[in-house]
Amino acid sequence: MIKIESLNKSFGRIKALNDLNLNVKRGELLGIIGPNGAGKTTAIRMACCILKPDSGDIIIDGYSIHDDPIKIKSMIGYLPEEPNLYERFKAKDLLKYFAELYGVPKNDIDGKIQELLELVGMTKRSEDRINTFSKGLRQRISVARALVHDPDIIIFDEPTMGLDPETANSIRNFIKNLKGQKTMILCTHYMEEADLLCDRVAILNEGKIRDVGTPQYLKSKVHGEVILKIRVKNTGDINLIKNKLIQFPSVGAVNLVGGEYLISLKQRNEIHDIVDVFGNEVLSINTKEPTLEDVFIQAVKG
Ligand SMILES: Nc1ncnc2c1ncn2[C@@H]1O[C@H](COP(=O)(O)OP(=O)(O)O)[C@@H](O)[C@H]1O
Ligand SMILES: [Mg+2]
Repeated sequence: MIKIESLNKSFGRIKALNDLNLNVKRGELLGIIGPNGAGKTTAIRMACCILKPDSGDIIIDGYSIHDDPIKIKSMIGYLPEEPNLYERFKAKDLLKYFAELYGVPKNDIDGKIQELLELVGMTKRSEDRINTFSKGLRQRISVARALVHDPDIIIFDEPTMGLDPETANSIRNFIKNLKGQKTMILCTHYMEEADLLCDRVAILNEGKIRDVGTPQYLKSKVHGEVILKIRVKNTGDINLIKNKLIQFPSVGAVNLVGGEYLISLKQRNEIHDIVDVFGNEVLSINTKEPTLEDVFIQAVKG
């Protein structure tokens, strides 16, 4: 549904996007993760026809950002990184203003606004002015604003950054509830957020996609695949045990934390024999899967 083709963009000497290619399927939630300055916002602003690339194109449902920006804008709901709201407007009037701007039929506007205020939990604040709102409340109203014209595509740029945990959670739930109904892009530098919500994740660094796939797939590719945690009755002589463990080709680092040995493994094939080293001392055995954070560190290094 969204095809990003060979996008390039420089700001002076900074190459913000470097031959960026990416596809988003209809109905999926695609995450774009990357550190600050990776180029996430730059790419998103191009999809929303706010910024032009030096070269390359984005095709959305057959429309090009170069030829049909007005059509594309009508298809996308955009939650910017730093929403610029009209401070003196009442919440309700702000939504009404944008509904009219986007050509929502007059008879539908009041109903739509009620529905959106309800959805973002702002019904009680509908008569209050934006300049009386906290950051969390502003973000809720911005989400409502992004949805006012019922777009097929929604793009969230760092939607939970700097929010209190409760508001961040309700925004995440909100995104989750839209899954399947809308085609969505979520830019974030919170790896757990991407892991939790996204169908697929693209890793962006220095203006280039390093890898893309389901969170599961990306995590399965990480070298040093799993951490084996063995809790023991008596920790014994750590050096002696370490010496035994590093004989196994699959064993990387060995650490003792509290009463627990943490052993990073490149493969799972020797777990049985490794556990045997501890004999009767073993109380419990656990494995910890790699996180998207591990994936990210590896991808950016490589
Ligand atoms: N308007 C601009 N003028 C100059 N440099 C910019 C501008 N916008 C972005 N950049 C630079 O482009 C790079 C990518 O920025 P951005 O897309 O905002 O990254 P992200 O959203 O991933 O944090 C950064 O090095 C940033 O400083
Ligand atoms: Mg950004």
